[in-house]
Amino acid sequence: MNKRVLVAGGAGYIGSHTVVELTKAGFEVVIVDNFSNSDPSSLDGIRKITGIEPIFVEADCCDKEAMRRVFERYDFDSVIHFAAFKAVGESVAEPMKYYRNNLLSFVTILELMKEYGRHNVVFSSSATVYGDAEVLPVTELTPRKPATSPYGATKQMSEDILRDMVFATEGLNGIALRYFNPIGAHPSALIGELPRGVPNNLVPYITQTAAGIRECLSIFGDDYPTPDGSCLRDYIDIVDLARAHVVAIERMVEGRNKERYEVFNVGTGRPVSVFELVKGFEAANELKLNYKVAARRAGDVTAVWADTTLANEELGWRAERELNDTLRAAWEWEKYVRGNK
Ligand code: UD1
Repeated sequence: MNKRVLVAGGAGYIGSHTVVELTKAGFEVVIVDNFSNSDPSSLDGIRKITGIEPIFVEADCCDKEAMRRVFERYDFDSVIHFAAFKAVGESVAEPMKYYRNNLLSFVTILELMKEYGRHNVVFSSSATVYGDAEVLPVTELTPRKPATSPYGATKQMSEDILRDMVFATEGLNGIALRYFNPIGAHPSALIGELPRGVPNNLVPYITQTAAGIRECLSIFGDDYPTPDGSCLRDYIDIVDLARAHVVAIERMVEGRNKERYEVFNVGTGRPVSVFELVKGFEAANELKLNYKVAARRAGDVTAVWADTTLANEELGWRAERELNDTLRAAWEWEKYVRGNK
């Protein structure tokens, strides 16, 4: 069994946690990253947690010749593709940045996988493909809605590219994991999310507010048709999410996949409101957060959470970490980052 994996974007938030879990599960990992939205310090964190120096190549996944050298040199049979931009608002302002980077990197990798006869690929998809779903929770069969941002469009297009490529390429298997809202950090506080500039996402904004870097958290809308008026999301712990990648790779490496292209929701199955998350953060870390209610943010859906039955049954995976522990880890990581600046 080939237990070697190329992790494209392995220095990033989800990538670095996945590298740690793969290493723990006995995989040998080759990381490719160009630090366009990550930091070399995550490689130190990986080394400290695992005790293993990860193989690292600094390259842009859109650079076919650089990637060809990686394929020539290392004989991994599986690839996990994280190398993509992820800010919804930025994608609206700079669509070409998203289409170029997110699509070209994946196309390049898939072409090389075909050329070099590599077999298994996991793609980082997103709950954004469901848009404003009519029936909740969403299952993998819930129809995808037209994308509302170029970021979302790249996720839908990449899923389709993967599906088409798998069917056209003998021996190629693909799994798209649709992440809900990844939050938290490794319990060691040695790796975590490193947002550039002002964070768009809720939890980094919360931790930076608690750290005094941001004055006040704005809760975007308290007039949604939900129990407390704020939006509902499915917040998945980053280590749980990382483990889902390991089991997805193992499923394909061991030939247990039922179809050559499969899709799984990766969430907790539990809706949590923005107010609940904020109060949970305060309780878990015994602190008070400065927050206020503000206007709704354009483009936000009222509610989305996962039906995780398929991942539970087929992957044998389920979210395990308690929200309390996740929110504590997020805060420990923020303090660690501030202490090291
Ligand atoms: C969005 C995308 C998701 C993408 C993710 C990564 C959609 C529908 N979702 O998730 O696909 O993977 O970003 O960037 O496109 N909030 C506040 N105050 C803040 C920040 C957020 O109240 O300062 C609220 C939002 O209104 C939302 C919730 O917190 O209800 C979560 O927001 P966020 O963390 O930005 O994630 P999503 O928008 O759900």
